[in-house]
Amino acid sequence: MLEDLFRLDNKFIVITGATGLLGRKHAKAIACYGAVPILLDLSQKKIDDFANELNDKYDANAIGFEVDITNEKMVKDNADKLIAKFGRIDGLVNNAANNPQFNDSSKKHHTRLENFSLDIWNQDLAVGLTGAFICCKHYGYQISKNKKGGSIVNISSDLGLIAPDQNLYSQKSLDADLQPVKPVSYSVVKTGIIGLTRYLATYWANKNVRCNAMCPGGVENNLSASFMKKVTAKIPMNRLAKANEYQGTLIWMLSDASSYLNGSIIAIDGGRTTW
Ligand SMILES: NC(=O)c1ccc[n+]([C@@H]2O[C@H](COP(=O)([O-])OP(=O)(O)OC[C@H]3O[C@@H](n4cnc5c(N)ncnc54)[C@H](O)[C@@H]3O)[C@@H](O)[C@H]2O)c1
Repeated sequence: MLEDLFRLDNKFIVITGATGLLGRKHAKAIACYGAVPILLDLSQKKIDDFANELNDKYDANAIGFEVDITNEKMVKDNADKLIAKFGRIDGLVNNAANNPQFNDSSKKHHTRLENFSLDIWNQDLAVGLTGAFICCKHYGYQISKNKKGGSIVNISSDLGLIAPDQNLYSQKSLDADLQPVKPVSYSVVKTGIIGLTRYLATYWANKNVRCNAMCPGGVENNLSASFMKKVTAKIPMNRLAKANEYQGTLIWMLSDASSYLNGSIIAIDGGRTTW
């Protein structure tokens, strides 16, 4: 029915990085529209607390598991567990990303390409790209065995579509070697996610598995006034996003409202990539 087009009732939807800034918003929207959110992240305590919050508010039967998505055995075991428990998986949101903490006081900034550590590069790719592949391999395969198929949403970024403008991150007081930049791994992961999306959109299309990528712009989250001034000047709407401004698009991408959407790369960036 037309009025139910966006509903997700009785669907089991896996969300990676579910207790992060945007993962929480994705999971709330999924719970609110009637699906069972299956929350994956690295801390069982945080996951359980968040699942309780969703269940209190939405009566959602949310459940969550500590699964490191870079560990294929953990992901496969979890996919098997979900099938034993629920019988099927209907959706997957590949949202997790690495957020490395740096602790260096060297004379060169660690984010700069010429200093960027191979370890961090490997970790970033392991979570953002290989982790998404592993999740598609196991949860996505289960979706492909579902009679009705399902929907995979990969979270890329506006920086999957355009190069970062490193002037945004520069700080007047610093020497050239100490200027921070957006790490190269971010561009590579977010562009790679788009390739994964196109591959999957065709791979299981005959099983009614749709796969699309969402490319969010930056979210307002304790950013300095000078960064805000520079970045908003690059956005036609002249502002960053609020963290809840991706929820509507996510529900559309997961629900029957987007039943003919497949292989699409959807920018939601206040128009930044239009300029
Ligand atoms: N926040 C933004 O401005 C923004 C903009 C564009 C795109 N994005 C993308 O949206 C997604 C979510 O961003 P966010 O801001 O919520 O990030 P976040 O750092 O708040 O959340 C990421 C979550 O992923 C989890 N995670 C990390 N490694 C993991 C692993 N190996 N296994 C399982 N979980 C793991 C973390 O614990 C964390 O909870 C990311 O893919 C990010 O690149 C964010």
